[in-house]
Amino acid sequence: MIYLWPPQEDNRVTKLYTKSWQFYKAQSEGFVEDQEYYYDFCKNQKTLDVFAGYGRLTNFLATRNIDIEIVEIENDFAKFINIQASKKHIQDVLTFTSPTQFERIIAGWNSFCLLTKDNDIKKFFSIVDTLLIPGGYASLNYFDTNYWKDAPSGELIIDDIKINYVPSYDLSKAKEGHGVWFDDYEFTQSGALEKRRFEYPVRVYENADALTQFIQHTSLELVDAVENFGLAKDEISEPGWIDYVFKKKE
Ligand SMILES: C[S@@+](CC[C@H](N)C(=O)[O-])C[C@H]1O[C@@H](n2cnc3c(N)ncnc32)[C@H](O)[C@@H]1O
Repeated sequence: MIYLWPPQEDNRVTKLYTKSWQFYKAQSEGFVEDQEYYYDFCKNQKTLDVFAGYGRLTNFLATRNIDIEIVEIENDFAKFINIQASKKHIQDVLTFTSPTQFERIIAGWNSFCLLTKDNDIKKFFSIVDTLLIPGGYASLNYFDTNYWKDAPSGELIIDDIKINYVPSYDLSKAKEGHGVWFDDYEFTQSGALEKRRFEYPVRVYENADALTQFIQHTSLELVDAVENFGLAKDEISEPGWIDYVFKKKE
């Protein structure tokens, strides 16, 4: 059964995925093209997955024996993550502290751009800085807005219900660093046509330089921008992914 939220209700909630998690999960769980990249990045390294979702990456990395902890704000997502409870931190990343420092931090599938306010982004990078050991690395994934126009419509299945999906977006304020992504879903349940729209305000980074203002108060350096998980364009179903890789100074 799909959880039915009243369609007229305003979906702009603080906790973005509180209502859309079933759709997001069904839509993204088949995506595996980034797994080997993160495995190579995290191999033999104590790792923290922030904005971990339902463990799409963490569950894979844990089965490959990566020592991994997670931070995820939604329990409806975190309940799918198969690591020991003490390694699951179900909270806002902006309030996360830990006695542990990590050799690697990852944030997959275009997540850190969900932080849209300057102060939150600066705070996030302070937290990454504190949580990394000197010489440690963070790989933070971003989906380049130049590729948003190529995002395909599609179909999902949740509990045997076929759902039509159409993405769209508003980049009219991209120059000021703001964009909005919309996911529209349509399906028939109990004989009735249902429609849902979810919107995600995101921070737009037009290039790597746009990140400088957010890390200059930390000991992080932007050391790489890995496109499409290091895959050739014909090896990736939807090109446009960039992993910004930061190193904490020794
Ligand atoms: C786009 S999903 C990415 C999931 C996962 N990283 C992946 O690769 O599949 C973003 C996730 O970040 C979580 N999230 C959003 N804001 C958060 C915050 N401030 N602190 C922790 N998690 C947050 C959402 O609940 C959602 O699960």
